[in-house]
Amino acid sequence: MKRMITIACVLILTTNGIASDFLYKDKTAPVEQRINDLLGRMTLEEKILQTSQLTYGRNANPNNIESKMKEVRPEIGSLLYRSTSPVFRNQIQRKAMDESRLGIPIIFGFDTIHGYRTIFPIPLAQSCSWNTELVKQSCVISAKESWLSGLNWTFSPMIDVARDPRWGRVAECYGEDPYANAVFGVAAVEGYQGENLAEKYTIAACLKHYVGYSLSEGGRDYVYSDVSGQTLWETFMPPYEAGIKAGAATVMSGFNDISGVPASANHYTLTEVLKQRWQHDGFVISDWRSVEYLIDQGVAKDRQDAALKAFTAGVEMDMVSNIYVENLPQLIEEKKVPMLAIDEAVRRILRVKFRLGLFDDPYVDEVNEKDRYLKADDIAVARQLAAESMVLLKNEKQTLPIKSTVKSIAVIGPMAKDSVDMMGSWRGRGIAEDVETLYEGLTKEFEGKATLHYEKGCDFDGEDTSDFSKACGAAEKSDIVIVCLGEKKGWSGENASRSSIALPKIQEQLVEELQKTGKPIILVLSSGRPLELIRLNKMADAIIEIWQPGTVGGSPLAGILSGRINPSGKLSITFPQTTGQIPVHYNRRKSARPNIGHYQDIPKEPLFPFGHGLSYTNYSYGEIKLSATELKKNQKIVAEMKVSNDGKLDGKETVLWFIADPVASISRPVRELKFFEKKEINAGQKQVYRFVIDPMRDLSYVDSSGKRHLETGDYYLEAGKQKVGFKIID
Ligand code: NOJ
Repeated sequence: MKRMITIACVLILTTNGIASDFLYKDKTAPVEQRINDLLGRMTLEEKILQTSQLTYGRNANPNNIESKMKEVRPEIGSLLYRSTSPVFRNQIQRKAMDESRLGIPIIFGFDTIHGYRTIFPIPLAQSCSWNTELVKQSCVISAKESWLSGLNWTFSPMIDVARDPRWGRVAECYGEDPYANAVFGVAAVEGYQGENLAEKYTIAACLKHYVGYSLSEGGRDYVYSDVSGQTLWETFMPPYEAGIKAGAATVMSGFNDISGVPASANHYTLTEVLKQRWQHDGFVISDWRSVEYLIDQGVAKDRQDAALKAFTAGVEMDMVSNIYVENLPQLIEEKKVPMLAIDEAVRRILRVKFRLGLFDDPYVDEVNEKDRYLKADDIAVARQLAAESMVLLKNEKQTLPIKSTVKSIAVIGPMAKDSVDMMGSWRGRGIAEDVETLYEGLTKEFEGKATLHYEKGCDFDGEDTSDFSKACGAAEKSDIVIVCLGEKKGWSGENASRSSIALPKIQEQLVEELQKTGKPIILVLSSGRPLELIRLNKMADAIIEIWQPGTVGGSPLAGILSGRINPSGKLSITFPQTTGQIPVHYNRRKSARPNIGHYQDIPKEPLFPFGHGLSYTNYSYGEIKLSATELKKNQKIVAEMKVSNDGKLDGKETVLWFIADPVASISRPVRELKFFEKKEINAGQKQVYRFVIDPMRDLSYVDSSGKRHLETGDYYLEAGKQKVGFKIID
């Protein structure tokens, strides 16, 4: 009797008539129990709606947004939320909580790729900083700005190891190396998700595009990718495995196919590997309509067949095509999809929602725009990351830093006053008005020290050379010429492949003309990919690649040019001599006749290799000292190397540690990055760099089924020009 009274007292009904004491509403109950309780109460229709993401708010007009809101079903699983308003977002969420039968919160996702409103350098640039802590901080800031705009989820990081710079999406990854993509991918996941996803300002990460997308033939976006089992496991899987271990909540399946089996219908990668081998317990979302594209890829005869293939392979949520909502009911009725599979998919989606704390606190804070974005401390992080991402490729005759005797500087080129392209593709909600241009940065830096003479010279492309003479006039009256060239934002990123990675002819012609003035030429390049610089390299005295630096590119560049900042970026991707030299990544597999067979018309080596990057000081690498030269498979070995700064300027030096395995059962890459470390070294000082080699992790190879093998025999450890051998014994 007493018990019945208690029950009667706690049966409080919420606005939608649901008892608030249901177990799934109990914050203190374990998540799995809450999910079981909720699943037990859901109708089939409610379950299927959870597997669907629709898009909302493309049109920024608030009136349309409100009327659109009426169309959103309160039971929808997710929205790709393109408005910036936390207020509308909360209104939609309130609808889900109050008007749906069970009050299941919506998860709001968006592409916050390298910043939301404070835009950081593109990911490719970020990896050239080799500063994982800064990259992580940039993601913490991006998560906070996103959350304050209503988001719970970002479709980032992209960890597709990319080796063909014709592919526009190289901009979005962390370069050509699997280890670098793994380390920066983990930093991004940790930054977005924080220690606890349920806390304010954290958002769920999404590893994409699982898997092999960057191997699209010829660098043409969306096309076939021929990924052998060996390449899959050796090159593409390591960043995903690391990201899953770091706790990434979600994964996105790609548009590509993996040697004939599309990534969005690939049971092996999505279920056998991701869910079974790696035990990922979050969910997989398709890429934009990638379920429907199974028809175009020739493996599904119609939308229903596509839904069946993707769902049974392991894609739990469909992005924007409504294909699951339309087709799953019939597929279940015909017993092609078992109810258990629906429950399992919905369980995964709900699990992420519970972990995000959405059931317990479904709303975001509604703060004024000025309190949401572009905080001074956050801008400082963006500035630092931009500075450390910039790579000094060439510096002849000590052209840089610009000497105090220089009193007049010509600033030429279409990128000098640009404020849009500098943000690159996927610029979140970044706006041009926030961007500090290169010219603004230079003006501040050289105020009172040198006079600037600006001329645009030409546009990014086209044939109009009529302003060349004005540009040359500015150069004539200056001591030195800074030419700011590069790519427009739409030339890289998604669906932005290029058959040539050279800059348009007009930009090269401009430099040819300027060179005739005999003035020293400093070339500043802003691009979303490595460029073909074989001709420009001959014309310029110094070259700096600033990538697409985001909101604050001007002052870091100016600081490097003036010598206030000592450059420390190093390439995470190779610059080929010409487009035809692609692919030319550093970690190519060993081959027969290694010294011949290259193209006859260009040098054998790339123009600027992986790891290249100059500084204004000299670092000398001491001998590598090993704690042992023979070890057993289960022993570790410690490598130490002193690096001294022999120059006059303080700086930051990154040591990249590579392993080479000269003889193995399979032919292995010539060298593989296994560890890196960036440290500050003041002028005249030394630092010790240390790498603890774990044989199973660092010396083994993976076979085409993903199995690791560690063999006895010789190995080499390399850093800079240092190389030392050691042995694994039985
Ligand atoms: C397609 C892109 O391939 C993917 O990276 C992105 O996250 C989605 N569209 C959503 O915008």
